[in-house]
Amino acid sequence: MKHETIETNAGWLIVLTLIVISIGGLVEIVPLYLIDDTVEEVKVAGKETVRPYTPLELRGRDLYLREGCYTCHSQMVRPFRDEALRYGHYSLAAESKFDHPFQWGSKRTGPDLARVGDKYSNEWHVQHLIAPRSVVPESIMPNYPWLLENKLDYKDVGDRMRALKIVGVPYTETEAEYQANVERFGEEVAKKLDINSAADNLVAQANQGNYDGNPRVVSEMDAMVAYLQVLGTMVDFNQFEDGHFVKFR
Ligand code: HEC
Repeated sequence: MKHETIETNAGWLIVLTLIVISIGGLVEIVPLYLIDDTVEEVKVAGKETVRPYTPLELRGRDLYLREGCYTCHSQMVRPFRDEALRYGHYSLAAESKFDHPFQWGSKRTGPDLARVGDKYSNEWHVQHLIAPRSVVPESIMPNYPWLLENKLDYKDVGDRMRALKIVGVPYTETEAEYQANVERFGEEVAKKLDINSAADNLVAQANQGNYDGNPRVVSEMDAMVAYLQVLGTMVDFNQFEDGHFVKFR
């Protein structure tokens, strides 16, 4: 059929346009029905190990967005050999299922951070964030000294959790929701996800973790380092056989 025949015949044009649009629509819509099969189930001893961020980690994540760290850092280890050798196991869909918006990114001026948790000490992170070139002389990363100087503003942390709850992150407010989390993640984790004690939990984690080296003040540095240290640590790959997650790819 000549192109001209289609263009000069409204009936053909409508029918063929609809066919093309529905193919595009199917490509976008069908995967939504399969989402349960594409997000891996990661359970150890009957409890899910991928959990939402604690209030302190969540504030750290917000600072990560505020400072634009994502403009240089991705957070997704692709399933390629060179990536796995450099960063560790490729990222699972489950590992970012509570991230809104997720930080996969596509720009790597600096290295991928999806598995940076537990790679360095807290002291290293503090020093590196204040003055990257003092630990990595050839670094082109900017200095972020104010993270240590600024006190962390956390009075709205409960509201931030509530906002995420609306989009499906299992933070809890009622007793029933809390019990569901105990069932799902275990009691210790469930306590940290309770909005009613968010501020207390945040301060307790900052004091206990002492991420910024100053136990008296809850600084932005506490939140940022707490966040960096949890990245990529929620799935213990030693608990699973090699290739366990392959079926989801
Ligand atoms: C202009 C680009 C740029 C920006 C913006 C940036 N970084 Fe970096 N980052 C780098 C580069 C380049 C490196 C590698 C050299 C080094 O370690 O300093 C790096 C390294 C790192 C590392 C060490 C990673 C590893 O595995 O060794 C961490 C952690 C890090 N950045 C965190 C951050 C955080 C948090 C922010 C936001 C506050 C940030 N970066 C903003 C460029 C950037």
